[in-house]
Amino acid sequence: MSASDPQRPPVSFPDALSNREGWLEPFSWYRTMRSESPVRYDDERELWDVFRYEDVKHILDNDALFSSDPANMPGFEEEVADSEGAPPPVFDTMLFADPPEHGRLRGVVDEFFQPRAVREQAEQIQQLTEQYLDEITAGEFDLVSELAYPMPVDVIAMMLGVPTDDRAQFKTWSDTLIERPTAQTEAEMEAYQQRQRETQQEMSQYFSDLIAARRAEPRDDLITAIINAEVEGQQLSEREMVGFCTLLLVAGNITTTNLITNAMRCFAGQPGVLDELRAGEATLSTAIEEALRYRSPVQALFRVTTESVEVGGREIPAGEGIVAWLGSANRDGAVFDRADEFVADRQPNQHLSFGYGTHYCLGAPLARLEAKIALSSLLERFETIEPVDTDLKPIRSSFIYGVEEYPLQVQ
Ligand code: HEM
Repeated sequence: MSASDPQRPPVSFPDALSNREGWLEPFSWYRTMRSESPVRYDDERELWDVFRYEDVKHILDNDALFSSDPANMPGFEEEVADSEGAPPPVFDTMLFADPPEHGRLRGVVDEFFQPRAVREQAEQIQQLTEQYLDEITAGEFDLVSELAYPMPVDVIAMMLGVPTDDRAQFKTWSDTLIERPTAQTEAEMEAYQQRQRETQQEMSQYFSDLIAARRAEPRDDLITAIINAEVEGQQLSEREMVGFCTLLLVAGNITTTNLITNAMRCFAGQPGVLDELRAGEATLSTAIEEALRYRSPVQALFRVTTESVEVGGREIPAGEGIVAWLGSANRDGAVFDRADEFVADRQPNQHLSFGYGTHYCLGAPLARLEAKIALSSLLERFETIEPVDTDLKPIRSSFIYGVEEYPLQVQ
């Protein structure tokens, strides 16, 4: 994981997943880990890995023992510092804050992401989707670049109040920010870190300018709401505002792209599923939940122990980094029957793909709506949808799971 990753502190990749095959299908490695070393310390990464559902859920449900603030990990701040010696603004957001600070920050935007508020966006999301689909003619197209990526970026840009013309720029920024270092030499590593820092700075500058523009001329958008928000009688600092915008943009973009693509991989990649959906034998909403479980867009979350604590029979000292493997928890046979099968009508489905507890994904209702609109529109437009036989390339990130391109043949 990159040193200045927007969502996660520095967590390098476990060896077993560092090749293409490993990261395309990490599930057999998870299975081995769940049975052989469900809680383990990795000397190389100097981190703990946790694989079983109950342990992962327990960690996410206990903020006091398992903090989301990476500053609790010695050496963290120096590692992610920018040229001014401070961590990038995104580390000042709710994602990296523990209660009570967490609630203060989340409260600023909570109402915009409640299911009712999100439903009001449905018409515009549908229109955007139709525009992208109009560009696709029968034959072959890439689901990622032609719908699954641009649509969620447009939606969050629209909600924030960012001009959609800047979309291509956002893609470049977010791609760089989730990039995993593949550097072999010190010079290559330095170049990678430099690229990361520059991207963070460009993005921060962009949002600072936009904040200044909205201060001068307020509008009915999320950026204006963030500027006007008062928490305990005080406005957010400029740094907090920039961090907020960055978080919403990045958190809501790559994740949803991969939900749409991974869901289509589940539907089109397994004979009979698209027919089941068309015939109403499984509802799309239920099948999307199963896609979230089966190919979780976020595979891993990071926490830091605040005191010495036991997990799954192992004693973890204070100040240690823990990787809670959602992707593994979601395949745990102790919780899910036929855990390694995609079961389109699976119910109940208590997957952990949006996290659990205090930090449960703010954007879950929006992501579900976007995925439903994108996938139902595709099913409506095209009578046949088939994956093109090609070598899939995994996304270069150590916590986001998906493929760079997903070509489909449609009629
Ligand atoms: C399929 C799409 C998505 C997935 C799989 C996903 C996954 C997650 C997960 C696992 C967390 C928990 C992080 C933690 O506990 O450390 C989270 C938090 C968060 N997500 Fe999402 N997310 C998605 C879409 C979105 C969207 C569309 C938005 C907003 C536009 C968003 C905004 C956030 C925010 C702000 C948080 C932090 C919440 C907090 O700290 O209280 N996410 N997301």
